[in-house]
Amino acid sequence: MAHNKNPHYDDLYFSENDGMEESFYVFIQGNHLPERLQEKKDICVGETGFGTGLNLLTLLNHIKNTHKESIKLRYICLEKYPLPFERIEELLSPFSERLSSLMPLYEAYWREFYQNLVPGWNKTLWSFPKGEVQFELYHGDAKDWAEEEGKPEVEAWFLDGHSPDKNPEIWALEIMQGMYRRTVPGGTLATFTAAGIVKRALREAGFTIQRKKGFGKKRHMVIGEVEAK
Ligand SMILES: C[S@@+](CC[C@H](N)C(=O)[O-])C[C@H]1O[C@@H](n2cnc3c(N)ncnc32)[C@H](O)[C@@H]1O
Repeated sequence: MAHNKNPHYDDLYFSENDGMEESFYVFIQGNHLPERLQEKKDICVGETGFGTGLNLLTLLNHIKNTHKESIKLRYICLEKYPLPFERIEELLSPFSERLSSLMPLYEAYWREFYQNLVPGWNKTLWSFPKGEVQFELYHGDAKDWAEEEGKPEVEAWFLDGHSPDKNPEIWALEIMQGMYRRTVPGGTLATFTAAGIVKRALREAGFTIQRKKGFGKKRHMVIGEVEAK
């Protein structure tokens, strides 16, 4: 059995061998972040399904390797089942070399953050090489987050909430509508899945979407954007 399954959904957190490349291809490139970050000193990113934090770490690793100056990243994410650091470390062990300069900081920050987690919003400020992160985690169900009021702030979304077969709830129209309300005009999204229910909900919520070649052997993934509101 794969060692990186989330027992709540009987599904993997990410692909075991090339999870970091996949994260870069699907979420970072899918949102055109390498290009966009050339011209910006700050950005607000949202993620449905924080899990181990691999997508955040992949983004910070990219910033560390490519930017001269520090970027201010506001990272707004949702997680129903936050993980203790021991489990995160185990899950991220295939990438420990590539993440070696970020992991000690992440460990120190996450241990403290996890100890103090409360239901609902948890916010803190973290500092990484070339990245200052205003980290905001909603600890709870994405459905409840979607019902809260929200204003347009997010510039790029990582939609990473398990496959729609295993976890259709996180791809529900109400959640896509909650994301749409929180997205600035010109904001983008990327997700690994091109399932029909996902595309339909995204379109109905107001996103303009298109299919793109998926990572590795996967045929398709989806990227999208909010045009004028
Ligand atoms: C595929 S994993 C995310 C992988 C993650 N991005 C990473 O880098 O490890 C999906 C995550 O979404 C969370 N999740 C699933 N349904 C949720 C919901 N309704 N509300 C909040 N979090 C949810 C799961 O607990 C899981 O951690």
